[in-house]
Amino acid sequence: MYERLIDSEQETEALARQLAEKLNPADVLTLEGDLGAGKTTFTKSVAKGLGITRNVNSPTFTILKQYEGRLPLNHLDVYRLANSDEDLGWDELFYGEAVSIIEWAHLIQDDLPSERLAIQIHRLEGDKRRFTFEPFGKRYEQLCEELFE
Ligand SMILES: Nc1ncnc2c1ncn2[C@@H]1O[C@H](COP(=O)(O)OP(=O)(O)O)[C@@H](O)[C@H]1O
Ligand SMILES: [Mg+2]
Repeated sequence: MYERLIDSEQETEALARQLAEKLNPADVLTLEGDLGAGKTTFTKSVAKGLGITRNVNSPTFTILKQYEGRLPLNHLDVYRLANSDEDLGWDELFYGEAVSIIEWAHLIQDDLPSERLAIQIHRLEGDKRRFTFEPFGKRYEQLCEELFE
């Protein structure tokens, strides 16, 4: 488990861009944290770092948005699936070369690949945040080691 204390939105953006530079095809990131923690803010900067020029906004009402960049991006926000037990086949998204970022990923726990990077954002006072990165699998352990070296 890796931890980073953040003082400002700019620092969140910088962390996201550093991560984006290191992403490979088919990488999967999950984002957990209360409303307003900064999941979408973080995703926007990952997208910029992937060379995506279209504006990334919260896909809350559409669940999935896809973008083209250096690597394609699947941005999911599954918040509204909270009361659904249906198998909607999200796992199929994870087979392609796109990077996937999933807000509220625990709501589709059974569809998640076993190897992934789990990111938690805790709101502290004001603009401060505590980020924790938990890698599942060798690929993501390496990624975290590089990012936090
Ligand atoms: N350090 C920070 N990191 C991310 N967002 C921050 C930070 N400080 C303040 N904010 C603000 O908090 C809000 C986060 O909203 P958003 O990214 O939509 O959260 P979520 O997707 O987790 O609900 C934004 O209004 C953003 O400007
Ligand atoms: Mg959001």
